Amino acid sequence: MSKTFKWGIIGLGKIAHKFAEDLQRIPNASLHAVASRSEEKAKTFAVQYNAPNFFGSYDEIFTCADLDVIYIATPHAYHCENVLMCLEHQVAVLCEKPLAMNGLEVKRMITLAKFQKTFLMEAMWTRFLPTMTKVLELIGQGKIGEVKSIRADFGFKALFDPHSRLFNQSLGGGSLMDVGVYPVFLSLLVLGKPTSVNAVANIGRTNVDENCGILLKYDNNRMAILQSSIVTNTGTEAYIFGEKGTIKINSRWHEPTSLTLMQDGKDPKDIFFDFDSHGYRYEAEEVMRCLRNEKKESEAMSLDFSLDLIELLDTIRMKAGIYYPKNDNFTEAISAAESINFSMN
Ligand SMILES: NC(=O)c1ccc[n+]([C@@H]2O[C@H](COP(=O)([O-])OP(=O)(O)OC[C@H]3O[C@@H](n4cnc5c(N)ncnc54)[C@H](OP(=O)(O)O)[C@@H]3O)[C@@H](O)[C@H]2O)c1
Repeated sequence: MSKTFKWGIIGLGKIAHKFAEDLQRIPNASLHAVASRSEEKAKTFAVQYNAPNFFGSYDEIFTCADLDVIYIATPHAYHCENVLMCLEHQVAVLCEKPLAMNGLEVKRMITLAKFQKTFLMEAMWTRFLPTMTKVLELIGQGKIGEVKSIRADFGFKALFDPHSRLFNQSLGGGSLMDVGVYPVFLSLLVLGKPTSVNAVANIGRTNVDENCGILLKYDNNRMAILQSSIVTNTGTEAYIFGEKGTIKINSRWHEPTSLTLMQDGKDPKDIFFDFDSHGYRYEAEEVMRCLRNEKKESEAMSLDFSLDLIELLDTIRMKAGIYYPKNDNFTEAISAAESINFSMN
């Protein structure tokens, strides 16, 4: 009989609820422990999802000796310290996107994961959705020829609350890190690392970017045009343009249930996907597959890929003037960016 994986969750906000609901749909997964800054909140959450253990502080979760993996669902600004704490205890980690606030933090996390021989993966759930698997398959089969450009956006109108995770700079607020990470992820997945980066941002009332526009240039006449927003609803669609056709990932493309394949000279073809969950089960199942096979990282969402992603976000931030004083060490960040292969022109 297959092993049942015992999950823990740290940070019991909105996404933690959805993830816990999805865990209930996975055979061989159980929610074993939850940790919050509030014991009352942890108890309510544990009762709701039948978790046998709950804790009123994050570090107490490690008193559960038999945890297999912890899902980190705190604001981005805390990902690094929360992940390091799990790795120090040699507990495998799935951490929400973005993996941390900058490349230096991610390097620290990867170094410790390797030293502790402990699994770590960024919870970039879109990577594991059946639609994204199909997109990669269609591109690999040459259905649209060589990909020449990508246009993708992710924007939604959030209720303005200066203290909320989305608008609070000290929690890592702003559109790029919250939702811009998805189009940047798509461009990195399909086109790889760009040769030059341009970006602009509207820095809003709380010093975070409310809109961000990104232009990435690649060799061989390829490019990506990307946009994020937390103050306007945008189409939230992704187009992958190739020499012989286009794949349109329909709205909202980061959690898509359909795509349209448009091939030159043929009628467009809609392809639909069903998921029997919020969509988080696929990333959780990937983690369990890796742990079952004693892997320390996922091949599909590797640590090198996460490092490339955050370093690209660092470069975009520097171009657009997006800073996080609590997390960014400017001297270190600038010298790190200079060592990256992205041109700053
Ligand atoms: N994959 C996705 O589709 C998706 C969707 C939304 C968000 N996310 C990611 O998930 C993470 C959490 O997002 P969320 O929307 O769930 O946020 P949220 O509702 O604000 O919850 C975050 C939780 O983090 C904990 N926390 C620790 N320190 C905090 C602080 N100083 N201020 C506020 N909360 C603090 C709190 O849990 P306790 O009170 O229990 O300690 C809080 O409930 C973010 O990194 C975000 O990018 C991913």
